[in-house]
Amino acid sequence: MEELEQIREKIAECDHRIIEALADRMVHVQEIISYKKAVGIPILQPEQEEKQTNVLKDMLGDNPFEEEILDIFTYIMKNSRRVQAKSLFDYNIFLIGFMGAGKTTIANELERKLEMHRVEMDEMIVKKQGMSISEIFDEYGELYFRNLESNALIELQKVKQSIVSCGGGVIMRKDNAEQMKKNGRVVLLKADPATILERVKDSDERPILNNHMNVDYIRNLLEKRKERYEAVADITVETDGKSLDDVCDEIIAKLIAFDNEKEKAAIE
Ligand code: S3P
Repeated sequence: MEELEQIREKIAECDHRIIEALADRMVHVQEIISYKKAVGIPILQPEQEEKQTNVLKDMLGDNPFEEEILDIFTYIMKNSRRVQAKSLFDYNIFLIGFMGAGKTTIANELERKLEMHRVEMDEMIVKKQGMSISEIFDEYGELYFRNLESNALIELQKVKQSIVSCGGGVIMRKDNAEQMKKNGRVVLLKADPATILERVKDSDERPILNNHMNVDYIRNLLEKRKERYEAVADITVETDGKSLDDVCDEIIAKLIAFDNEKEKAAIE
């Protein structure tokens, strides 16, 4: 029994060293972020992760635990991304824009890249009501749905450092925009009416477009909302003809530039 305890103690010593090494590593990760931010180097460099993995493989040589150790390192790198995102974005990121602008797809990708939490506003409402968006519109009407949206935003004041994919009409109420600005930055995603139609045409979960699935209707409604979208947005990103990766990198770069400007203005 005594021998077993001794082995356990050795393991605890290893854990202690691992914790110290990881904490050190995280500090250096933060240093990299500060450096990249100051010098203007892209924050996410997936090719760097690949290089690191190759270096690790070399280091491991013919270590019998290569597979297990590499597996642990994938988590270390994932959490490095989390640390980076935390030091970059200490607020919520609200994605706004017309239906089909790409909010959900881009929120998913940002969640993966930044290891931030993600909230889908429509999903939050559907879950809470136990009804689909179409059912809510059919049974209670649009005004009721808009009130649910406003309540959801108030509830979201509790979440921190999350990516929130908003319903396309949420910005029409001034109070909603104010809620978003309290603890977040607002990112407007844009797409052409024809692109939007292509993306939404097979969905029957958008009651606003039911019986109006055509470019002219989309263009008109977009025109009506345009002023609000633009007034609320902190930054704007066009999605047409761009890869998902490029859109995400552009959002990250523009948010950092926006924050730097804000910081500069606060000092002056
Ligand atoms: C709406 C957009 C939808 C959903 C509801 C109303 C709108 O969300 O909230 O159908 O008024 O633009 P998505 O933009 O995510 O499709």
